[in-house]
Amino acid sequence: MKKRDLLSLREISRAEIEAIFSLARKLKWELKRGVAHRQLAGKTLAMIFEKPSLRTRVSFETGMIQLGGDTVFLGPDEILLGVRESAADCTRSLSRWVDLIVVRTFSQQTLEEMAHYATAPVINGLTDLFHPCQVLADCFTLVEHKGKLAGLKIAFIGDGNNVAHSWMQAAEKFPFSFVLACPKGYEPNAEVARLAKENGGRIRITQDVAEAARGADALYTDVWASMGQEQEAEIRRRAFQGYQVNQALVALAKRDALVMHCLPAHRGEEITHDVLEGPRSVVFDQAENRLHVQKAIMVWLVKGLKGK
Ligand code: CP
Ligand code: NVA
Repeated sequence: MKKRDLLSLREISRAEIEAIFSLARKLKWELKRGVAHRQLAGKTLAMIFEKPSLRTRVSFETGMIQLGGDTVFLGPDEILLGVRESAADCTRSLSRWVDLIVVRTFSQQTLEEMAHYATAPVINGLTDLFHPCQVLADCFTLVEHKGKLAGLKIAFIGDGNNVAHSWMQAAEKFPFSFVLACPKGYEPNAEVARLAKENGGRIRITQDVAEAARGADALYTDVWASMGQEQEAEIRRRAFQGYQVNQALVALAKRDALVMHCLPAHRGEEITHDVLEGPRSVVFDQAENRLHVQKAIMVWLVKGLKGK
């Protein structure tokens, strides 16, 4: 089997995503009923994290344990990537010991270099450019609640960031429409947007939050300042005034619209407390589904999926 990586949603087909979802559904069903699954017994996952994390770290660690495998966590002070050792030498060495590597880092280019030199599969656990595992879990959550992705209108309110970029790549694969409302100057990466549109993504970028929210099936948001942008937080707080998911915005969406957030959330900034805690919010379903979907991703990368 040729080594595969999951660095962005570009290199994965719709059929593969659907196969991952059906395995995730089975693993979720089994877990809820106490059925042990041991697909990755004897395997080890290395976890390189250069930024903080709760959901990604715990869902990968727990997921690997539930699959019968083990993990090695490597925080920012351990490898000293690019200082003590090059990204390439790091993953070349790791590949001799472990079966899978998940990386949370800043630059997508560093991740790509790591994957290029690794002989073990590499998973993007978030970079400045993409967050593919998050958006796969979000799409899975939408299918659970809405029964399908096709024909949905997803409104993303906020920053044209890593999560938004992965949404645009997901829109290349699935026929939903993705409307991103962001302030001027905070548009998504032009190349990611161009490619996603060129590849058939039904994508619209606007400054008008009402236009995005009107008739939406899901209202999605994320922090205004991502990890690594802490020093811009105040400027961004001013720039993003009006780009908040609140009751007035929810009222413009469909009556049964879902409210989504990848978390962590800054209540009172990109989303109000009452909306986050309200009946339409599925934010903790999204967090839970990180576990099930990533377990399926790990099985896919280590063992392949039948028929794909
Ligand atoms: N949504 C998400 O990736 O959360 P963490 O940053 O806590 O991993
Ligand atoms: N855009 C956020 C996502 C956190 C899960 C960040 O990069 O910090």
